Amino acid sequence: MMEKSFVMMKPDAVQRRIMGKILTRFEEKGLQIVAAKLLKIDEDLAKEHYGEHSEKPFFNDLVSYITSSPSFAMVIEGDDAISLIRKIVGATNPKEADLGTIRGDFAMDMGRNIIHASDSPASAEREISLFFNEDEICEYKIADDSWIY
Ligand code: PPS
Repeated sequence: MMEKSFVMMKPDAVQRRIMGKILTRFEEKGLQIVAAKLLKIDEDLAKEHYGEHSEKPFFNDLVSYITSSPSFAMVIEGDDAISLIRKIVGATNPKEADLGTIRGDFAMDMGRNIIHASDSPASAEREISLFFNEDEICEYKIADDSWIY
């Protein structure tokens, strides 16, 4: 089933200049970037995005990390994209993430785990609408044409 997921490279991915390597993993798998923007998340947006974790002991650290520097927000589309992207991203704790996943290969620390991806269709819908207006999402088909190689 075609799905859209919200995916965000967090400040450490931007600071470490590994955005291109991460983006390549989604593109090479066959997923399609349909919206993207670099933005500095403010405190209100951070608290809304992570609202369900507001009572967790790590909440304040998470908000200050995510607001510390720009993040790269995306909408990625594809067949079963939500669960597929979670597989590509790997476990939340980078030390437990399998090698070959983004977190397994690029991250070491739970508090600096470089990327976020929606965990369900409901969160994908909520998160996409939090970060993007409808007119920022580009619906397009890959041309079945000879100039693609
Ligand atoms: S929980 O308690 O199982 O619901 O939380 P979890 O799903 O593991 O994590 C929820 C999000 O919080 C991030 N997180 C942290 N950030 C900073 N510091 C610490 N210690 C920390 N622990 C968890 C975690 O990466 C999840 O954010 P996303 O953006 O979804 O990865």
